[in-house]
Amino acid sequence: MSAETPQPVTARLTSAAIFLVGTLGCGSEHAAAVRAVCADLAALVRGVGFRAPDGQLSCIVGFGSDVWDRLFGAPRPKELHPFREISGVHRAAATPGDMLLHIRAARMDLCFELATQIMLRLDGAVSVADETHGFGYFDARDVLGFVDGTENPVGQSALDATIIGQEDAAFAGGSYVIVQKYLHDLKRWNAVPVQEQEKIVGRTKLSDIELDEAVKPSSAHNALTTIVEDGREVEILRHNMPFGDIGKGEFGTYFIGYARSPGTIEQMLRNMFVGKPPGNYDRLLDFSRAVTGTLFFVPSATWLDNAAARPAAGRIGGAGDASLESVPHAASSQGSLGMGSLKKGDEIIAIASCRPSPTRHGLKLKRKPRAP
Ligand code: HEM
Repeated sequence: MSAETPQPVTARLTSAAIFLVGTLGCGSEHAAAVRAVCADLAALVRGVGFRAPDGQLSCIVGFGSDVWDRLFGAPRPKELHPFREISGVHRAAATPGDMLLHIRAARMDLCFELATQIMLRLDGAVSVADETHGFGYFDARDVLGFVDGTENPVGQSALDATIIGQEDAAFAGGSYVIVQKYLHDLKRWNAVPVQEQEKIVGRTKLSDIELDEAVKPSSAHNALTTIVEDGREVEILRHNMPFGDIGKGEFGTYFIGYARSPGTIEQMLRNMFVGKPPGNYDRLLDFSRAVTGTLFFVPSATWLDNAAARPAAGRIGGAGDASLESVPHAASSQGSLGMGSLKKGDEIIAIASCRPSPTRHGLKLKRKPRAP
């Protein structure tokens, strides 16, 4: 286990969360603003959270592949790459996103206040491509009615599953995270008899007990997402939350999975969308559409504390933004960077271009050394 302090990846499930996926503006001053916020994040969480001691406020920040070099320069986390779309029986869309904020608390006001304070500090450097407010739904159920999160690893197993060690020593204490926003066709789902639903998920609905292997189909969700390598189960940690908008008829699950290697989550996704063997896919997807999909690297908290001092900004752009064109922005095919999003149906397909730099607020936060 590394000496670096991880971000609170393994913090327990709360009843409120905000998931913010943003895209970074072009100017070097925007990159500098992001680095400054990284270094101040712990102070911001303290500032908001201290007022509500039982509020369990936490925040995790992650960065997409396309902005890593621009923000932080070399080295790069070994396995950081843009989310790869999967086209199987169903499609897992890849959508833009340079920065993720995963804010959790026992109360939504705390999440909302922290998100507001962070965005104020970013002062226009990052535009929101997707904002989802998640809520706890009865006994940790998703809106499909099943308890979600039961088989998550806990304690040391959760750390082992999510926190990078010596396999990428420069980024020890970090983690990878994939987010996907799923919209459910609840009307069709609710028309499926409960016994059939249970075979799709692989657990009983009311009592949340795993189905016996004798009756569980190989296409069950929990069968396809069980990855065994060299006789050992390779786990991930999920902090999924329901979300919705009654007026729009939107009922969803925000999937958020942390892992030591993104390959584990990608394998689960292939099993779900393509099938294992191909064609034996996850029937949850007949009722659930993935409208976003983005991969981020989550540096350790120790690494974040030192982010402001990183010299990456000088590598490109400098005062002007013209050189951005030469940055290998894979997501630029999806149109990363800038402001506002273009949508096709529910899916964000492009983000428009750069914006001029806004004025700064000049807030100053006290940085404190982290406890060893
Ligand atoms: C439509 C979105 C999704 C819903 C509603 C959903 C719901 C569920 C439910 C109800 C369970 C059983 C209880 C539990 O152990 O948590 C479960 C298990 C699990 N899900 Fe999902 N899930 C979704 C998407 C995903 C995705 C995209 C992945 C990974 C790429 C994933 C990975 C897992 C894993 C690893 C388990 C535990 C399997 C086990 O060890 O038994 N889920 N999910």
